[in-house]
Amino acid sequence: MIVSSLKIRLYGDSCLRKKSIPVMETGTSERMLIKSMLATMYQHKGIGLAAPQVGINQRIFVADIGDGPIAVINPQIISKSGTGVLEEGCLSIPGVTVKIKRPQKIFIKYLDEQNRTIEKEHEGLMARVMLHETDHLNGKLIVDYASLTQKRKLKKHLKELEAMSKE
Ligand code: NI
Repeated sequence: MIVSSLKIRLYGDSCLRKKSIPVMETGTSERMLIKSMLATMYQHKGIGLAAPQVGINQRIFVADIGDGPIAVINPQIISKSGTGVLEEGCLSIPGVTVKIKRPQKIFIKYLDEQNRTIEKEHEGLMARVMLHETDHLNGKLIVDYASLTQKRKLKKHLKELEAMSKE
């Protein structure tokens, strides 16, 4: 199997703003995409990567916070509790971090790459990564959480990324 590194779409690319569609069934092509997404994520030293970030509007993301890779298909956040604030970055918006308040703990239901249903509680960093990546599947980005003041400060940088995304 050839695992290729994929091109990461930058802020301004329309793929990042689309609502992604559910995966009907995970087969060879989806598993290949997952492998390539993981390779791409590791290459860029990320801890999460969603399919729209590589131009594919399907509800798939991968993550690894240091305890091994996981693939998440058609995630549903069933419940959330608590709150925490952390500075987040995104491979599609290099050079930008935004302080984001998110639930501390989630209960998530999804399919793994073998079409098994997984129902699991996550807290801390993994919960945050899963919420960040699920946002991507709904076309939502970290800059959407920025304050008006920060949005104003980011304007020039985002314009530059937008120009780069069209190259
Ligand atoms: Ni991101």
